[in-house]
Formats: sequence, structure tokens, C-alpha cells
Amino acid sequence: MRVIEIHPGGLEAMQIVERPDPKPGPGDVVVRWHATSLNYHDYLVAIGAIPVPEGRIPMSDGAGEIMAIGEGVSRWQVGDKVMSLFFPNWIEGRPTAAKTRGISGETVDGCMAELAIVSAESLTGMPEGYSYAEAATLPCAALTAWRGLVEEGDLRSGEKVLIEGTGGMSLFGLQIAQAVGARVFATTSSPEKAERLKGMGVEAVVNYREDERWGRTLFKLSGGGVDHVLDVGGGSTMQHSIDAAAMGGHIVSIGILGDGRKGSITFPKFFFKHQRMTGIAVGSRVMQEAMVAAINVSGWKPIIDREFAFEGLADAFRYQATGGHFGKIVVTI
Ligand SMILES: NC(=O)c1ccc[n+]([C@@H]2O[C@H](COP(=O)([O-])OP(=O)(O)OC[C@H]3O[C@@H](n4cnc5c(N)ncnc54)[C@H](OP(=O)(O)O)[C@@H]3O)[C@@H](O)[C@H]2O)c1
Repeated sequence: MRVIEIHPGGLEAMQIVERPDPKPGPGDVVVRWHATSLNYHDYLVAIGAIPVPEGRIPMSDGAGEIMAIGEGVSRWQVGDKVMSLFFPNWIEGRPTAAKTRGISGETVDGCMAELAIVSAESLTGMPEGYSYAEAATLPCAALTAWRGLVEEGDLRSGEKVLIEGTGGMSLFGLQIAQAVGARVFATTSSPEKAERLKGMGVEAVVNYREDERWGRTLFKLSGGGVDHVLDVGGGSTMQHSIDAAAMGGHIVSIGILGDGRKGSITFPKFFFKHQRMTGIAVGSRVMQEAMVAAINVSGWKPIIDREFAFEGLADAFRYQATGGHFGKIVVTI
């Protein structure tokens, strides 16, 4: 079977290598991964910004089918369609250091492999009617949006949600918010993408490159602020997110796009607006199962911008780095 390995030197140094077909041990299954999708986290691993051991198999997202079952496994049967977990050891409950130490495609091997041994506990089913490509978009980006809005934010119909940018995670935020009956506001750097967002039912879109006070603009356009923000920029966006949010609004700190690893905020504005901020990193298996159940009822499908072949992983990352995409980039395996 073929896998792609990470080696020092960034995208050019990634290697396709042959490895022996795996056999499942007790409690394990063998999965044939059919598709993976790109997340910003995978990009940081691929370019060496997140250091990993040489030979690490990248990609946290995978969708595939069970090929063989190890001793003692009753959760799955051969032929079942499954999805990976970003944190293979976080099954349920609140996060702990032990549950979140294993990160697929970073601290443990990921899904850029034709076959893989996976613990039977570290998989969920796919939504009904989803292709492998569609299911492979969900485990990192969709689960993050789901957790931020539904699990942590207790999103209700009629509430207002701000999504920032048009990356994979943000567009899942849009679709999940609409499935719950919430109203959606957005930012983007592209006039064309702004039109697409409006076509999808977004009430108002602000260009964060052109409007230096885009948070305040969104506060006004939303009629007194939004109830939920999916913040993707950290230090580069958080003050705007606080400005855009309503009294009592909930801000989910998710990313650091735009060099936002560090930053400053005006604290009185935050606490006199009685706001709440939750830092999150993806979610548990139980949360992923709840999200799949919700998709099975509401039926929304992910927005796939482009698909690449197995050999095209480096090109897929180069395309992601241009920021030209709208939604998810998929690689078929
Ligand atoms: N904490 C977690 O669990 C978690 C999980 C998933 C993702 N994330 C984080 O969430 C962020 C987005 O991830 P993704 O995988 O959806 O990325 P992605 O698909 O690569 O999306 C990036 C998009 O974000 C927008 N953007 C870029 N720079 C921006 C800035 N300075 N301010 C506002 N928007 C900006 C752009 O949208 P336009 O082209 O429309 O301008 C760009 O297309 C990343 O920081 C990622 O690390 C965190």
C-alpha cells in the first residue's frame, strides 16, 4: 500500500512510499481511506511549521471503509463506512491532556494512506448519502464549527452568527447555523466570495481588508450585534469580534489567521458587554456522532471547492495557500 510521508524541507520533501499492508491487532480495524481533506492545521504540518517526526503520515481527516476486523471488535463490520477523529483518544466528556495528546496527522499517523490500522473506538459512521469525498471534509472543520456553535454556544433559532472568512470551518459554521434556524453574517476579503455568501442567505457581508472597523460595521448591520462569533484570527481579529458581538455574546476562539498568535483587546469593552469567550480545539467522538445525527436529519452537504488526486497533495496545499478556495479542498486516495 502507498502512503505519503512528511520529511524535513516542506512540501517539496513529501514522499510517496510503499509500506506492507497492515493487519489488525486486538481492538483494531483496518480502514481503506478513500478521501481526505485539507485543514489549515495539515498545511502547518506539511510546511514544517508544526514539527513532526520524520516519516509521519499527514492529514487528520479521512473517510473510508472497514476492510478487516481485529479480535474483540464488535462496533464495526467489514464494509462499514467510517470517518476519522482529529483526537483519536477523545471519546467523550470534557477534554483532558491525556485525551487530546494524540492528534491525527501530527503526534500520530494520519489518513494519507491507502490502508491504516485504527482503534475501533477512534472512528464514527459517515452521514447517510454522503460520498467519501463529502465525509472526508467533516472531522476537523465541521466538528469545530458544530462544537463552537451548538455544544459550547447552545445556538438557538433566530440568533445571529458571525462567520469570518470563507474557509472550510467558517462555511460549516454557516450551514450549521442555518440548519438550526439562525441568521448569518460574514466577512471575506473577496467581492466575488461576498456575492456567493449572499446567494447562500448571508444577510450582510463586510470586506475585512477594506473596512478597518469591520467589527463595528457588523454590530450596526446586525442591529445591535451578533450572538455568536466563530473567531479565526485571534490577535488579528479578536477586537473586531468583540466589537461585532452583542451584549452577552459568545465568541469562540478558533484560529490565528493573519499572524494572530498574540494580540491585545480592550478588556472593559469585553466585560461591560458581558461577553463570554471559549477556546476550543475540535471535539470528541460523541460530539462527532451528534453532528452526524444532525446532518442525517437536516441533510446539508459540504461545499467542496476542488478535488486533487493522491499524487497531488503538495499541489493541493499550494492551492490552499493562495486562499482562492471557497469551502473545502479534498484529496482522493
Ligand atoms: N481550533 C480548532 O479546533 C480549529 C479547527 C479548524 C480550523 N481552525 C482554524 O480556523 C482557521 C480556518 O481554518 P480552515 O481550515 O477553515 O482554513 P482555510 O480553509 O484555509 O480558510 C482560510 C480562510 O480564512 C480567511 N482568512 C484568511 N486570513 C484571514 C484574516 N486575517 N482574517 C479573517 N479571515 C481570514 C480567508 O477567507 P476569504 O478568502 O473569504 O477572505 C481564507 O480563505 C485556521 O486558523 C485554523 O487553524 C481551528
